[in-house]
Amino acid sequence: MLLRRRAAAKFDDPSQWLFTDDALQQATAQAVAEHRARRLVGATVHDVTCSVGTELASLRASAGFVVGSDIDPTRLAMARHNVGDVPLCRADALRPITRDAVVLADPARRGSGRRRFDPRDYIPPLDRLLDVYSDRDYVVKCSPGIDFAEIGRLGFAGEIEITSLDGSVREACLWSSGLAEAGVHRRATMLNGAGQVTDAEPDDCPVAPAGRWIVDPDGAVVRAGLVRHYAARHGLWQLDPDIAYLSGDRLPDGVRGFEVLDELGFSEKRLRQALSAHDAGAAEILVRGVDVDPDALRKRLKLRGSAAMSVVITRIGSGTASRATAFICHPSR
Ligand SMILES: C[S@@+](CC[C@H](N)C(=O)[O-])C[C@H]1O[C@@H](n2cnc3c(N)ncnc32)[C@H](O)[C@@H]1O
Repeated sequence: MLLRRRAAAKFDDPSQWLFTDDALQQATAQAVAEHRARRLVGATVHDVTCSVGTELASLRASAGFVVGSDIDPTRLAMARHNVGDVPLCRADALRPITRDAVVLADPARRGSGRRRFDPRDYIPPLDRLLDVYSDRDYVVKCSPGIDFAEIGRLGFAGEIEITSLDGSVREACLWSSGLAEAGVHRRATMLNGAGQVTDAEPDDCPVAPAGRWIVDPDGAVVRAGLVRHYAARHGLWQLDPDIAYLSGDRLPDGVRGFEVLDELGFSEKRLRQALSAHDAGAAEILVRGVDVDPDALRKRLKLRGSAAMSVVITRIGSGTASRATAFICHPSR
């Protein structure tokens, strides 16, 4: 009962599902699984680490044929209950039992309570999975923080898709070359209506002073290293070539932005005075490139007004020309 209630954060209707605590923690959120399934429409897919069947539930609606396997008999028994119409069997993902099917793998990144950062420590290990399935198309869900260079060293040359849901980065997904879009090696997908951007798009993006809006790009864009591509796509520019904050006179659709009311050289005293002049009673503080702890600063500001404001503090310029700058803003929502 308790687990099902927690499952509601990941699934639309978990009322008939069986989980274990671990299986629920490891399960892909439904919106992310459905997005992956949309890229596999019509394909024959073998989920080789199917656990309790979360990804299978999304795949069965649109894939041509779906089969699932896992090494854990308890999870498989639950999968039989959860997705009873999908063929399932117990198998080691490192010993292929299908041929030609696109392989979907979601190796565990946690074992004996500790997180595994090295992809060779995944269960099963990423290097072994890539090796075993090198002769066919595959999709492998990895930790969002995975080192891209390290994946390259493992011989991966396809597309890395970073996906966020409601602004939080959920995963890095490896799509083998045969499943990747031509010319795309990195993609950021924002499942909150803000769309996608890839490294096949232009990245010409000027650096200029703030316009009407400041945009803090979604974590998926930042993690995928596609800030400039995203800016170019939406007609935005950078405030500084090394900082991810962008600016523009129009907000991209579905994006929360910060309308600039005031700009000042940052010092606590000047910021306090400016916020009080704007009657600020609460301030959301965003920081990049300067050593400021937003929570500690917010407490010290002791705001007494009635308006809810946002403050963006960032470094602009480098070396001796570098200056910490604060923008007092009104959030779009
Ligand atoms: C992160 S979970 C998969 C979660 C699943 N994608 C979901 O959304 O519910 C990893 C799964 O890999 C399974 N596993 C670990 N080693 C395996 C192996 N060598 N062969 C097959 N499955 C394995 C575990 O039992 C576990 O169910």
